[in-house]
Amino acid sequence: RPRVLSGIQPTADSYHLGNYLGAVRNWADLQEGYEPFFFIADLHAITVEQDPKVLRQRTLRAVAQLLAAGVDPERSAIFVQSHLPEHAELGWVLQCLTGFGEARRMTQFKDKSAKGGEGASSVGLFAYPMLMAADILLYRPQYVPVGEDQRQHLELTRDLAQRFNSRYKKTFKLPEPYILKETAKIYDLQDPTIKMSKSASSPSGIIDMLDDPKVSAKKIRSAVTDSETEVRFDEEQKPGVSNLLRIYSALTGSSIDTLVEKYAGKGYGDFKKDLAEVVVEFVTPFRERTFALLEDRAYLDQVLFDGAERARAVARRTLTDVYDRVGFVAPV
Ligand code: TYM
Repeated sequence: RPRVLSGIQPTADSYHLGNYLGAVRNWADLQEGYEPFFFIADLHAITVEQDPKVLRQRTLRAVAQLLAAGVDPERSAIFVQSHLPEHAELGWVLQCLTGFGEARRMTQFKDKSAKGGEGASSVGLFAYPMLMAADILLYRPQYVPVGEDQRQHLELTRDLAQRFNSRYKKTFKLPEPYILKETAKIYDLQDPTIKMSKSASSPSGIIDMLDDPKVSAKKIRSAVTDSETEVRFDEEQKPGVSNLLRIYSALTGSSIDTLVEKYAGKGYGDFKKDLAEVVVEFVTPFRERTFALLEDRAYLDQVLFDGAERARAVARRTLTDVYDRVGFVAPV
């Protein structure tokens, strides 16, 4: 079976709706017919400063949320990145294949380092995309299900794979991004021209999946729309309404056309009220499952232990090939 792989950073207490619709939901769907690997990217998280206690909690919460979202440990290897030293090891090799200018052109690095102010960004933040390439290439996956904001990192990953293959010997499979256009980019509810994001969004612009559902409902009802009244899909003229239509459609399975028909002649009030209910119905069981799973630490540890074992078998093999091909003497 072809492999799929993806990761998420444990940098918030809760996934937001963008993480879920853009990525995690597809992970759950892609378990059928693939051999899946999904991990919590704690090595990536420390590219910016983290409180150790909070990071540990968030990592466990991230695992519980994956399970609550339907990622099934029987079918998927679920693991924590730092449990596999192979990620950092291959990351180093790939850093040595990356040009300084090439790394500097990564837009996420440019954005994050600009925000941090002069000198505030770490070398780790700079090396972030090469670690991500290592995460992926170790498992030789066919698909990497992510949101639109990760596309450039996927392109670098393919470039590095190709470079390694042609400089040494064909070792890596070129992974393809798996990005569904309907949910590739969920926008901020208060500023529908920027993506929903834990770092950039104001609290009222972001739906946290583990938040009190009443709070999430209120955020939907007060989402920014426009001065018209017609519920219509038009990303240029009506980015707010279009974003809400996308969310509504993704959570219910109704097509956008069906929804537009349903709200013909009605105002934004009805539309947002109904969507608020859809969101509440969706997050309520999700939270319950997550909080129940968090009560069972022994189970989470077992999931991570099993996941790491399955991942290690694959990662070790790739790294051994890589070390051999770059000319390292094998340890005896
Ligand atoms: P992260 O933790 O920022 O986000 C996790 C996933 O959520 C997607 N996403 C969105 N999708 C749609 N709309 C949004 N507003 C939105 N916000 C976030 C992201 O695209 C991502 O798929 N670098 C990665 C983590 C990572 C990784 C990897 C992913 C590390 N190694 C290897 C794939 C393969 C990141 O920071 O995602």
